[in-house]
Amino acid sequence: MNTTSKQSRRDFIALSGSALAGSFFLHPVAQALSIFDKPGQKMKLAMVGTGVRGLAMWGRDVIRAYKDQVEFVGLSDKNEGRMKYGKTFMGVDCPLFLSADQMIKETKPDVLIVTTMDSTHHEFIVKGLLAGMNVISEKPMTTDEVKVKAILDAERKSGKKLIVTFNYRYSPHRQKLYELLRAGEIGTITSVDFHWYLDTSHGADYFRRWHGRKEFGGTLLVHKSTHHFDLLNWWLDSDPEEVFAYGSLEFYGKNGPFRSKTCRGCPHASKCDFHWDITRNEHLTKLYVENEQYDGYYRDGCVFREEIDIYDKMAVQIKYKNNVQVSYSLTTYSPYEGYRIAFNGTKGRLEAWIKESQPWDE
Ligand SMILES: NC(=O)c1ccc[n+]([C@@H]2O[C@H](COP(=O)([O-])OP(=O)(O)OC[C@H]3O[C@@H](n4cnc5c(N)ncnc54)[C@H](O)[C@@H]3O)[C@@H](O)[C@H]2O)c1
Repeated sequence: MNTTSKQSRRDFIALSGSALAGSFFLHPVAQALSIFDKPGQKMKLAMVGTGVRGLAMWGRDVIRAYKDQVEFVGLSDKNEGRMKYGKTFMGVDCPLFLSADQMIKETKPDVLIVTTMDSTHHEFIVKGLLAGMNVISEKPMTTDEVKVKAILDAERKSGKKLIVTFNYRYSPHRQKLYELLRAGEIGTITSVDFHWYLDTSHGADYFRRWHGRKEFGGTLLVHKSTHHFDLLNWWLDSDPEEVFAYGSLEFYGKNGPFRSKTCRGCPHASKCDFHWDITRNEHLTKLYVENEQYDGYYRDGCVFREEIDIYDKMAVQIKYKNNVQVSYSLTTYSPYEGYRIAFNGTKGRLEAWIKESQPWDE
């Protein structure tokens, strides 16, 4: 899902809901195309952040879906090797830039796509807006309130648009929940119980990567829960008024029984439940392992590294402007992955238990 910070949620829902029968939403690139004002020309895209997300969802998939309407004019990343591999992966023939400033100046894109690490989004969003282009940024928009303010100021000053992408709203069962709530099936919603479980495979993976440090991803309450909070705002059609949260690190990081720097070469590999051999995945090896010499980033970091400082269990209480009370939690070492949600209303209760994955075969 995408929302624009220039459009109210109600306006956006009215617009997208009436336009789309089977789905509520426009792809962010389609949304950018809808405000593209150069008839007969392809929309010029440039992307900063040629990691796993950028290359597949914003690179390869966008080229496949919109090849007649868009063209990539530049790619930028601080890791030269990853950027070169990305160009081949995407099958494009555009110039590469270590400096996003230079890319923006030389290629003058219509839209800048930002798919870098979360804590750096604001830097590129602000640069793009102030250089006069619309920007599409991966979630989360950014990681703290100072950066939020810088982005909103740049949007106001430039008159350009930022589209932040929230793909969780696209899934059919979440859209069905939305439809049932809007249809008034349970009357007025009064409270919500929402509990999300990350398992010891996908959940653990956050602790292997840059996400394990507050300074890079703002903790999973920002990096991951941003999806869940976006769903809540949309389902409830309101905004939070009061929020408080608890978080603690009790399983990963310093809590582990032993540790190493990376899974590769780990002396505890044979007894570690979290040992993971990245070299068995060719794409991830080409993307990260073969480019470690450029930035020293290890994609298979030990989940028990001392430096991990994010929370692995989190609980949040939210009071919405429309008086709905929400109890939310996020657990990162569950045996299976998915979520339980219950909406309590004046005419009934709507419940869902969605099991998304598990680390073992059925
Ligand atoms: N919507 C979703 O479900 C979803 C899923 C995965 C990732 N994401 C988002 O996509 C973004 C990228 O995540 P990823 O998993 O691809 O991470 P990644 O580490 O694979 O890629 C990030 C890239 O950004 C580059 N980078 C970091 N800082 C930079 C800087 N200052 N200047 C230039 N390049 C820089 C890195 O070198 C790397 O190539 C994140 O914002 C993440 O939250 C969203």
